[in-house]
This record gives sequence, structure tokens and C-alpha cells, in this order.
Amino acid sequence: MSYKIQITNSIEELSEFFARLLIDRVNNITGDFHLALSGGSTPKIIFEYLAAHHQNTILWDNVKFYWGDERCVPPTDPQSNYKMAHDSFLSKLHISTHNIFRIKGEDEARQEVDRYSSVILLQLKDDFPRFDLIMLGLGEDGHTASIFPNQKSLLTSDKICATAVHPGTGQARITLTGKVINNAANVVFIATGKGKSKIIDAIINKKDNFKDYPASFINPKEGQLYWLLDKDAASLLHS
Ligand code: 6PG
Repeated sequence: MSYKIQITNSIEELSEFFARLLIDRVNNITGDFHLALSGGSTPKIIFEYLAAHHQNTILWDNVKFYWGDERCVPPTDPQSNYKMAHDSFLSKLHISTHNIFRIKGEDEARQEVDRYSSVILLQLKDDFPRFDLIMLGLGEDGHTASIFPNQKSLLTSDKICATAVHPGTGQARITLTGKVINNAANVVFIATGKGKSKIIDAIINKKDNFKDYPASFINPKEGQLYWLLDKDAASLLHS
């Protein structure tokens, strides 16, 4: 598994590093840049930073926006990953709504899985979708996107998207599958805070029961994996 770890002193420094990754890739691509966004509190801070500091440094018109996962709720629901990204970021960019491909959490989940899978295939024009960059958060239980430890079969599913259920809340979700995530050109884990330090140490150093954690199986076959961490989240890595 080849990966790059970037440890930063603050979430602002981490956000700036992520922005520079995007500048380097989005601004130098011919054609569309297919970017899948993540939900979560850490990505929200990054979105706010991008909206505040990088409206004009990144060629956002080159970007087609997707989601790595979504909660099965309406787009107006505070739980919606789309709503979080829209309110904190996308609504502040001067981009066409035609470049935003949200997962319709308000619709029947299995039908939406089929619809979203066809949207991805149509837009990426590829037999098996290869996103340019997939942004991922990390749960303290080792989940990523909405692939939870008790649903690890989603890591090897041949589907593009699948339904999932949050094991704690029972909330229905829709998620990209592990094979799609591992087919991306760039996969960027973003995690901050001491609460993530133990799971990050276990996954990166293959310790304890790391194989229980879905994030342990994220390793793009022909792509680059990044771990963007603040110093608290990375605090056990050197032990
Ligand atoms: C979601 C995310 C999920 C999230 C992690 C980390 O829909 O909630 O896709 O995978 O990224 O749970 O979330 P935090 O950054 O809030 O810890």
C-alpha cells in the first residue's frame, strides 16, 4: 500500500494543503475534473475554508461535483451531506448547478442507487467509474463514506453505489462502493482530533484488529492515497 501522510498543525493548514492538491490537479486537467465530496464535520470546515480563500484560485468550472455518500433524507434536512456542502461551499462559488450531481436522499433508496450509478457512468464515460479525486472522512469505528464495519461486503461489491445503514442510528444511507473508491486517481482521507488517533494508528500501522475497519481496505490500485491529518489525529503514529 503506497500512501502519503501530511501532518499539519491546524485544520486551516490542513485545508490549505487540500486546496493546493486541488489547484495542482483541477487547474492542470484537460476536460472535466470529477470530484466526490464527503460528509462529516471535518470536511465541513474544509469547505468553509475553500469558499473563503479559494474562490478564484481553483478553476471550479472544470469540476463536476458528486458525493461519496449521502444520508437518505431530503436535501433540506440538516443531516444531508448535500445541504452541508451547498450551504458551506457550493452556494458561494459561481458555478453552474449542472455541474452538481447530488444523491437524491429523498427518493426510494434502491431506485436512487440505480439512478445515481447511471449518472456517474454517463458523466465519467467509463465502463467502471474512475473519479479524479474522492474525499473521505474517517469514523472512529473505522468506517469511511457509508461503508461500516458490519457491512464490509460493500468493499468488494461489483456495484457502483449501494444502500447502507448506519449501525448506531439505523439511518439509511447510499454510498459509493469500495471498488469505485479504489479505482480513483486520488483518494484523500481527512481526519482531525485526538478521537481519531487510535483508529488512524491501527489502520496505517496495521495494528490490533485493523482488518475490522473498512478504511483499512482503501488503497487505490492505480492512484494516490493521501492521509491529511492534524497533529492530534496523527499523535500516535510515531509511537
Ligand atoms: C458521513 C460521512 C462519514 C464521515 C465520517 C467522519 O456521511 O457522515 O461520509 O464517513 O466522513 O463519519 O465524520 P467527522 O469528520 O464528522 O468525524
